[in-house]
Amino acid sequence: MIPKKDIQRLFEQNSPREALLQICDRLQSQKSDFTWVGFYFMDHSEKMLHLGPYRGKPTDHLHIPFGKGICGQVAVSGDTYLAANVAEEDNYIACSIDVQSEIVIPIFREGQQEAVAQLDIDSDTLNAFNASDRRALEEMCRDLGEIAGAELSFAEFQKIIDHSESHQPD
Ligand code: SME
Repeated sequence: MIPKKDIQRLFEQNSPREALLQICDRLQSQKSDFTWVGFYFMDHSEKMLHLGPYRGKPTDHLHIPFGKGICGQVAVSGDTYLAANVAEEDNYIACSIDVQSEIVIPIFREGQQEAVAQLDIDSDTLNAFNASDRRALEEMCRDLGEIAGAELSFAEFQKIIDHSESHQPD
């Protein structure tokens, strides 16, 4: 979806926040049915996910406990979760009533067992993510973890995100 060299360049030329926003933009421009694209950062000591940069409608879910919703389940399992039809999910947190499918992919810092962050994509289309989307997104998240895993840690996240203000760009 986004070549590794482009991810590298994005992080060389921009702040982590801006680089992540540009990744959201690029994904949305490639796939018009990716209605919400964003990153959650993982605080393993408090077992809590915290919303980072995103594109799409503002969400109330700035903080999600590990285990809760699709994102929380990925925080526990460390594996991608593809919900082809969110209406069939028992443990799901609705961001918007229009969302019909979702994929959440963990991002690992190279050589580490615990994920540092997650990529979360919602779609208003049922079954919006096919096997090739999943592979491409997982590859992109592997590259992202290799290139910027250190910058995506929760400690760094606290420097770039202030939840008292909107982090949607102007
Ligand atoms: N649907 C997610 C919550 C995050 S919003 O989609 C942005 C979940 O079930 O974890």
